[in-house]
Amino acid sequence: MSARNRIEVIHGVNLDQLGRRNPEHYGGLNYDELTFRISAWAEELGLKVRFFQTNHEGDLVEHLHTLEGLADAIIINPGAWTHYAWAIRDALELAALPSFEVHLSDVDAREEFRRVSVIRDLCVGTIKGQGPDGYREALTRCQTLLKDA
Ligand code: DQA
Repeated sequence: MSARNRIEVIHGVNLDQLGRRNPEHYGGLNYDELTFRISAWAEELGLKVRFFQTNHEGDLVEHLHTLEGLADAIIINPGAWTHYAWAIRDALELAALPSFEVHLSDVDAREEFRRVSVIRDLCVGTIKGQGPDGYREALTRCQTLLKDA
């Protein structure tokens, strides 16, 4: 059997604007710098990553629809959609892949509305408040999970 090492790293709304957003919550890296780091960590771990980012909810839903047979696990930071986008939840459920939810900021220590995640219970784990390093943790957890599967 071929190695199960394909990780789809998905970013939602406004995450293309990293670097311009509040550095207190999101740090100073822009989106390209973040994906560059994630790629380097993935390579160290022997994982293959593909990236997708959109500001259009339907595009994210349709992207999730395409993943069958193309990815072994998902790392997803839906941005503000985390808190209310039921269509994204349904599409993530349909994708039926082990998924990790990542947030740069500690969503549970901010405004009340950020404490709700409509995808959390579908995910193997949630990593929040660790900045970019949270993606390294998610990749490491994907590696362990796919190795043990
Ligand atoms: C975020 C947290 C969300 O509440 C926010 O809307 C974002 C980014 C994070 O990575 O901390 O856009 O998902």
